[in-house]
Amino acid sequence: MNKIALITGASSGIGEACAHVFAREGYSLILTGRQSEKLEKLAEALNIQYNTEIAVSVFDIRDKAAVSHNLEVLPEAWKKVDVLVNNAGLSKGLEPVNLGNFDDWDQMIDTNIKGLLYATKIVSNWMVANGRGHIVNLGSIAGKEVYPNGNVYCATKHAVDALNKAMRIDLLPHGIKVTAVNPGAVETNFSNIRFKGDTERAKKVYEGFEPLVAADIAETIWFVVSRPAHVNINDLTIMPAAQANGVTFVRK
Ligand SMILES: NC(=O)c1ccc[n+]([C@@H]2O[C@H](COP(=O)([O-])OP(=O)(O)OC[C@H]3O[C@@H](n4cnc5c(N)ncnc54)[C@H](OP(=O)(O)O)[C@@H]3O)[C@@H](O)[C@H]2O)c1
Repeated sequence: MNKIALITGASSGIGEACAHVFAREGYSLILTGRQSEKLEKLAEALNIQYNTEIAVSVFDIRDKAAVSHNLEVLPEAWKKVDVLVNNAGLSKGLEPVNLGNFDDWDQMIDTNIKGLLYATKIVSNWMVANGRGHIVNLGSIAGKEVYPNGNVYCATKHAVDALNKAMRIDLLPHGIKVTAVNPGAVETNFSNIRFKGDTERAKKVYEGFEPLVAADIAETIWFVVSRPAHVNINDLTIMPAAQANGVTFVRK
């Protein structure tokens, strides 16, 4: 069997772009997410284009029993995962903390922190058994600094930053590399989700400058993963050239 990459949140944006890049590079893929139809369509397209072997596993990453069940039922051959891309995540709402919404907070914390941990526990155990592996965590510029109204999303990505460092220590003796890739503004479905379907408001986020696209991040993740065996990139922050930090942009 080829090398195997497991990508969480492969139905859209950065996860979907990673699926394309890893398929192009000859990996077999485990694509996970909630939307079975989208994932099956993507699997079919990648299979036609690259002859990629693909397993689709459908679950909500917030549901620890579902994560565990759906991953553990995969055939043993699929558990030789070389690369885990911990990508599934979201921001929901952009309000001052006193006006925040409990359900939005729960969703971000349960997905971005707890969901990432559920997938990591299972797949890192497989990697320990295999004596190798590379975990790539999708952090964010929001995990490096905080910005107005970003409160809980920033907190979840700061948690990813901490977990990235902690995992690297814990998994070092097992030959498992751990890397965080922390993007600035990437034009995906991200802002539509943050603004709950207000597409006009979402579009404005990217107006007047050239944002990153999902493929920029996927190619960066591929760069990280394709370094020689003795090299690990611990932490990589990547921004549009027109963005300096979480809030400073040059817009035309
Ligand atoms: N876009 C940016 O500017 C940016 C910047 C920094 C970091 N990031 C991070 O990059 C990652 C990917 O975001 P994106 O920009 O590609 O956004 P996106 O296009 O909205 O994709 C998010 C993906 O996460 C999945 N997901 C969300 N909640 C899930 C759940 N409960 N269970 C399973 N899958 C779930 C979505 O699946 P469904 O189709 O089922 O919703 C989708 O596949 C996130 O961790 C995000 O925080 C993005």
